[in-house]
Amino acid sequence: MQFIPYSLYPTFIRPFLFLLDAETAHGVIINSAKFCSKKPLLNLFKQEVSYSPVKVMGLEFKNPVGLAAGLDKNCEAIDFFGALGFGHIEVGTVTPKPQDGNPKPRMFRIRSCQGIINRMGFNNKGVDYLVENLKKRTYKGVLGVSIGKNETTPLENAVDDYLICMDKVYEYADYIAVNISCPNTPDLTKLQAREPLEKLIKTLKEEQSKLQVQYNKYVPLVVKIGPDLTDDMIATVCQLCVELKVDGITCTNTTTRRDVIHGMEHSGEWGGLSGEPLRVIANNTLAKVNENLKGAIPIIGVGGVSNVISAREKINNGASLVQLYSSLVYRGPNVVKNIVNHI
Ligand SMILES: Cc1cc2nc3c(=O)[nH]c(=O)nc-3n(C[C@H](O)[C@H](O)[C@H](O)COP(=O)(O)O)c2cc1C
Repeated sequence: MQFIPYSLYPTFIRPFLFLLDAETAHGVIINSAKFCSKKPLLNLFKQEVSYSPVKVMGLEFKNPVGLAAGLDKNCEAIDFFGALGFGHIEVGTVTPKPQDGNPKPRMFRIRSCQGIINRMGFNNKGVDYLVENLKKRTYKGVLGVSIGKNETTPLENAVDDYLICMDKVYEYADYIAVNISCPNTPDLTKLQAREPLEKLIKTLKEEQSKLQVQYNKYVPLVVKIGPDLTDDMIATVCQLCVELKVDGITCTNTTTRRDVIHGMEHSGEWGGLSGEPLRVIANNTLAKVNENLKGAIPIIGVGGVSNVISAREKINNGASLVQLYSSLVYRGPNVVKNIVNHI
């Protein structure tokens, strides 16, 4: 039985959270979620959702709806988010060393269209801290770990950072997401070009083979791309991912486009835009990725998922799994239940 009536979120919890600036509210959520993650308290927050299993990348997901990367960057509240009914959770993006990220303010709500602009810049407590939390988790669903590079690491040495993270999380992750599409880390998105991407993926695939033997476990590698790629770039990324046997593609990260929120509050802030205004942009990229991949490898669809219709749009465009972040902020935990139960 569900104890906490999440349908009250928009009327009671959200107004309080929205009195705070976006990042402070995020901190309140993570700290409360951390506190509530301990049993038996956690049982009060458990949300029963339908069991609608899917098998993707050789992994069993209890349903196709996941929490996108960036909300639980340090894997501090995974048991709480797991209790909300997600079939998978992607923690991170984590970097080898802890880093503060960009100066505040760096997260903005665009309430009129249920969007968010963020330029966090991979603020996180470093991979060692994340690994300690991974070890303690009781969440039994599929766990992805998103990995990235420190801001101070030059782009030409980026591979080293991804390797460090991969080596450290491999034993504890169900899949690893290679984040090369965050628009808030200088030049990171350049890793989506042919030459650097080929080098990065080849190296990580070689490492994956070694780690597979070492841990007697195959951990799929997923590449997360952005929504602002040209058609040629999408074709290149897809071709490389298939050739180099990447296990999946996540599309998409946030967009730097602003035409879709022209004239709205905070539209002049730089950073990545997510939520409802990203939906159509991300869907277009998803459709093109699907066209290029022709089913060769699975796709995780993310960007503007907030209800059954937007989740189905992703699946109809070729996604095997969907993820969400922004709609959880606007609609609360019920969004998970509504999608999972009706998809
Ligand atoms: C505040 C914030 C921080 C994010 N941080 C990350 C991150 O660290 N790594 C990542 O791959 N994506 C990150 N994202 C992007 C989300 O994972 C997702 O791709 C994007 O928000 C689109 O989904 P949505 O429209 O459901 O929010 C972040 C998004 C937001 C809003």
